[in-house]
This record gives sequence, C-alpha cells and structure tokens, in this order.
Amino acid sequence: MTETVNIVRSYRITLSFCMALLISLLVATLAVCCHGFQIGVGIADITGPPAEVPFMGYANPKQKGYGLHLRQFARSFIIDDGSTRIVFVSCDMGMMGTFLRREVLKRLGQEYGEMYTVNNVMISGTHTHSTPGGFLLDIVFDLNSWGFVRDTFENYAAGIVRSIQRAHKSLTDGKIFVSHGQVLDANINRSPTSYLKNPAEERAKYEYDTDKSFTQLKFIKSDGQPMGVITWYAVHATSMNNTNHLISSDNVGYASVLFEKKMNKKFTNLIGKGPFVAAFASTNLGDVSPNTAGPRCVPSGNPCVPETSNCADKNDVCIAFGPGKDMYESTQMIATKIFEKAWGAWKGSQEEVKGKLGVVHQYVNMPEQKAEWTDPETGETKTVNGCKPAMGYSFAAGTTDGAGAFSFKQGTVTTNPLWNVVTDILARPSKEMTECQAPKPILLATGEMNFPFEWQPSIVSTQLAKLGQMAIACVPGEFTTMSGRRMRQTVAQALNLKGPEQVIVAGLCNTYSDYITTPQEYQAQRYEAASTIFGPHTLTIYLQHYKGLAGFIKNGTIPDPGPSPPEAFNDVVSFLPGVIFDNPGWSKEFGQCVVQPPQTVQAGTTLTVSFASGHPRNNVRQEGSYLSVERLGQGDQWEIVATDADWETKFIWRRTSSILGTSEVDVVWDVPADVIPGTYRIRHFGSHKLVFGAIRSYVGLSQTFQVTAN
Ligand SMILES: *[C@@H]1O[C@H](CO)[C@@H](O)[C@H](O)[C@H]1NC(C)=O
Ligand SMILES: *[C@@H]1O[C@H](CO)[C@@H](O)[C@H](O)[C@H]1NC(C)=O
Repeated sequence: MTETVNIVRSYRITLSFCMALLISLLVATLAVCCHGFQIGVGIADITGPPAEVPFMGYANPKQKGYGLHLRQFARSFIIDDGSTRIVFVSCDMGMMGTFLRREVLKRLGQEYGEMYTVNNVMISGTHTHSTPGGFLLDIVFDLNSWGFVRDTFENYAAGIVRSIQRAHKSLTDGKIFVSHGQVLDANINRSPTSYLKNPAEERAKYEYDTDKSFTQLKFIKSDGQPMGVITWYAVHATSMNNTNHLISSDNVGYASVLFEKKMNKKFTNLIGKGPFVAAFASTNLGDVSPNTAGPRCVPSGNPCVPETSNCADKNDVCIAFGPGKDMYESTQMIATKIFEKAWGAWKGSQEEVKGKLGVVHQYVNMPEQKAEWTDPETGETKTVNGCKPAMGYSFAAGTTDGAGAFSFKQGTVTTNPLWNVVTDILARPSKEMTECQAPKPILLATGEMNFPFEWQPSIVSTQLAKLGQMAIACVPGEFTTMSGRRMRQTVAQALNLKGPEQVIVAGLCNTYSDYITTPQEYQAQRYEAASTIFGPHTLTIYLQHYKGLAGFIKNGTIPDPGPSPPEAFNDVVSFLPGVIFDNPGWSKEFGQCVVQPPQTVQAGTTLTVSFASGHPRNNVRQEGSYLSVERLGQGDQWEIVATDADWETKFIWRRTSSILGTSEVDVVWDVPADVIPGTYRIRHFGSHKLVFGAIRSYVGLSQTFQVTAN
C-alpha cells in the first residue's frame, strides 16, 4: 500500500516539476518573442513598358525607352509587434504617387481587409530617372509622357502588390538591428551656393554639404538567418543621364542587385528570385548628385557659373559628370561604393531595435496650412502660410544632372499633343500667388490651373512611424540635405529619441510634390527652390506637422484622416498611342534569328544577336525575361547564365518600319572575363500583336556557339 502511495507521490512531484519546467519555458519563449517582432520581406518584378514610353525624371521628351538594361523591382518589408504592423516598400521607380498607392491599397484591401491600409503602408521610390512615366496623373508630371499611360500604372500596381503579398507570406519571428556607416566619395551637392544660404551657425554643425552617412536596418530571423536589409543613403539615382533609353534602376538599384547576389549565392543567376531582399531606399537627396566629377561647360570644358549653373558661352551647356568614363561605368562605380560600405555596416557593429511600434498617417492640404516661424537671423517670430502650387523659371532650365528640354513659351506648337492642348490655358499667376511664392518668379501657376485635371497636388500624404528607439518620417517629395537634417532634429526631439541619427527620412514617399528646400535656400531660386511648390515655408509647415504626428504617436491616439485627394480617373487624359499591330517582315517569322552569333566568342568581348520581334509593350514579362543566355551543362541540360535583369546583358528594340509594323531586337551580352568556357546559345522571348488585337507569344533561338577563355 505504502509503496503505491509513494509511487503516486513521486509521480505527482515529477508532474509538478514538469509543469514548472513547462511554465518557465513558456515564460522564456514569451520573453524572447517579445523582444523580437514578426518580420517579413518580399521582392517582385515591377518593370514597366520598355519601349516608346517616355521616362520619368529628366522631363526630357526625347528620352523614351527602347529597351532594358536592368529590371525594376519593389522590395517590401513588414514589421509587427503583436499590436501594430508597419509596411515599408522601396520601388525602383521615379517616385511614389498618391493615385498609384491608392490603387495598391485597394487591391490589398480586397485580399486582406483592414490589415494593410493608408495608415500603415509606406511606399517610397528610389528616384531612378530611367524608368517609364505616365503613372502619376497630375498634368505636370505626366506632361512628358503625353498624359496617363495605363500599362505603366498597371505594371507598377501589380508588381508592388505582389511584393507585399510575398512579404506577408514570409512573416516569421525575428529581430531588427540598426547600424550606421559613411560613404564619402559617392555624392556631391549640386546646388552648393543655395546650401550656403543656410545660417553659418547651423552649417558649422556639419562637416559636409551633403549627408555622407547612411542608416541601415537589418532583418534577422529568430534562428539567426538573415532575411533582408534596407539602407538609406542620400543620392540622386541619376548616374544614367538623359541620353539613356534603356530601363535602368540606376546606381541604387544596381547596389541592391549586388547585395542580393552576395547573400543569395544559390540564386546568383536569377536576379530578383532569391529569399534575401536588399533595398537601397531614397532619403534627403534633393540637392545631391552622384556625378562626383562635378559640372563643367560642354563642349568648351570651361567652368560653369556657380550661382546659375550657366555657361558664359551660349553654345555651351553646363553638365555634371560621374566618376566613370561613361554613364554605365559611373553607375557601376557609385553602386559599388555604396554597396561595399553597406556590406561593411552589415558585417559591423549593430544595435537591436527594441520597443513598441507606432504609425500615423494624415493627408494635408498644404496651401491651407499655417505655421509659426522664428527667423534665426533676426530672432523675429511670425505666422507663415502655405501657397497654392507653382513652379519657378529655373525649373524649365533643369539641373546639371540633366538640362531641361521643355519649351514653356505660351502658344508654342510642339510635337507633344498634351502640351498643345493645355498650353492655351496657362494661367497668369494671381497677385495673391505671386506674393505668397515670392521671391519665386512664377513660370507655371499650377495651383490655379485645373483643366483637364489637377496640375500638381495640393493634398499630400504625411506619415510617421516609430520603431522602438528609431523613427521613419515618410515625406512626400525630395527634401534637400539641410531640410532633411532639420526634419530629423525635429522628429527626434518630438519623440524624445536619443538623437537625430535615430530618425530616417524616407524620400519620395506616398505622394510626389516635387522639392522641399529650407526657407533660406528658397531665396536663391535655383532648380530645387523653383520646384518647392508650396512656397518659401513648405519646410516650416512640414516640421510643425510632423511634430504634431509625433504627438499622436506619443499619446497613442489616431489623427483624423485629413482631406481626401480627388478622384483622378474621371478626368484622365492620355495621348500616347498604344501598339497597333506587329508583322515579322517579308518571309520571316517572329523570333527568327536575323543576326546569328559567330561560331566562337571570346571572354571579355561583346556579343550582339538580333531577332525579328514584336513590340515589347505587348507583354513586359514581369518575373520573366525577354532573353536568356544559356550554357550547355552536364546531362545536356541548358542552364540559364544571364537574364535581361543582369548587368552584362542589354535588350534593345527598334521599329524597322512603322507602316509595316516590323521590328527587331538586339540581345547584347558583355561576356564576362571569368566566364565558364563551353557551348552557349541565346534565346529571345517575345509577344506580337495581331491586327484584331490578340497577343501571341513566341520564342526565338540562336545557333549554338563556343565561348572560349582569354
Ligand atoms: C551622357 O553620358 C554620355 C556617356 O555615357 C556622354 O557622352 C554624354 O555627353 C552625357 N550627356 C549628358 C546630357 O549628360
Ligand atoms: C494627442 O496628441 C495630438 C497631437 O499632438 C493632440 O492634438 C491630441 O489632442 C492629443 N490627444 C490626447 C488625448 O492627449
């Protein structure tokens, strides 16, 4: 009897011991889990139509696409602390716009209900100037692409949604770490004389007239596996200049590719397919150029006039050049510099992001805003207000990264049908606007024009997120260096953070409303100031407003949503013709290889192969490729060595006859010096359009050829 009792007792003891162990384990897991977050990352191909659609950025109507060098991607990151979820998306495109973001949110809503909304999704553009335009809807921004381009808009919306879906599916326990680093030789200020207008006392706090330091957030799974990284470094993605006609994600896009190749070893040949996602996102790049060799007058070689970036000789143009011998080499050099330092920071010291998440969003009607401003020179405080949008004269001249090419004379008949329609109604600025925007000489009183639709936004998106000891201010345009520094200072103070380096300014985010200079820089009226559309105190208003947003995060309340931006699609205008039909040409077939490779090709040389083709706009082949370079591997299997997303390849399209509808493509391959010798072939994947509208795909195949080592 006693024995059974004893057994039962020892059983009970073991049981309670087990329970205690279980409970302590549970507590331990909870403790671990609550230091970390749920994190997710996703990448998707967002490439837009690569032929005959003008690029967004330089406002140069001659800069239409006719092919592809690097594909465009959206990179999404999700962080969740159990009660708040934040999504950050960086896209290889000129900028994000209110209407495109709204479309993305609409599609997410259909799938996930209230999980991804206007409040918690931040979408930022990298600001590459070599990707298709026509997706913003505002007249000024779509002028260059002859109005709205539906396939650009659709390609971007579909790709961005896909990247967020993938990030959502990848959600898992993990941690976030922050680190900082510096790249000294990858950016210069392109309006240094404007920067000098800022108070001397303020400038004395900084060593450089651009931000050389970057902030990096690392996403690490709880098992220690790296998942993703976002690096914010201030530089215009304008290493590719306005003579480029091939889609390119430019310097920061290529830096992403380099980082992902390094981490996704197994997926080296397939860009955009690996699990590790590396974004280089835009920040306060407003006055920051990658053309580090600086500006000079072309062709004479004389120095430019610093204040105006003009040339003494009327036949000259003032253009800034990159560190390389041409724009390709410059892109590669800037990308490599920022990638290498970012890689160093990834390997180096880091600090865990700990604490609660918070995020708030509000639409703001800028011309209606007022703010208090103390002039640092006089100490005088006054009430200032926002203005209706307007562009100054220097806007038409462009920048040293790319001269403007628009004729803004009234009544000029041009080859641009949208311009011909709207030019007759160019409003003269009212007295009120002229006074409000002073000293800006007004070229386009966009805020007083609304035919056929709004010319520039008045209502912008503002959003602020807190990630433990860090914050991200998502801003609706291009902040200059000093504007960004003031924003970081203001938000850090308002959220009681350790210092301004705890605040990330995410640029060209959610809405595009051009530039934001400081009130002092505004006085100089260079390009960035001419494009600061809400007047001299645009920044003053934003600083006050983001301070207010910080207040909501601190007290845990939700601001009212603000006024709703207009419904754009009712009045949309579109003049850019689509593809009518394709024809392979007399006695040819689509995909027929019309220029074959030679029998042997040497490492380190360039190979060009041509095919009879359809129009690339028929199908942008997102998540696919227009071409593949293939090597005959073991077991007689063809292995893909490169796609159109690789640096080594270029895909170039040309219409050979617009009457007959014939066209050809070149597949260009820079055969790497360290290529594996063997038997190779080139394939081209395309689609052609029949006269009655149906689209059919085809595959072209070259003869095989031998690649030999050097
Ligand atoms: C663009 O870069 C090319 C070199 O790649 C150069 O020849 C050309 O002058 C540049 N043009 C402009 C407008 O910057
Ligand atoms: C929270 O902060 C905001 C912004 O500073 C303020 O407008 C609001 O009244 C505050 N709400 C509460 C309940 O304290």
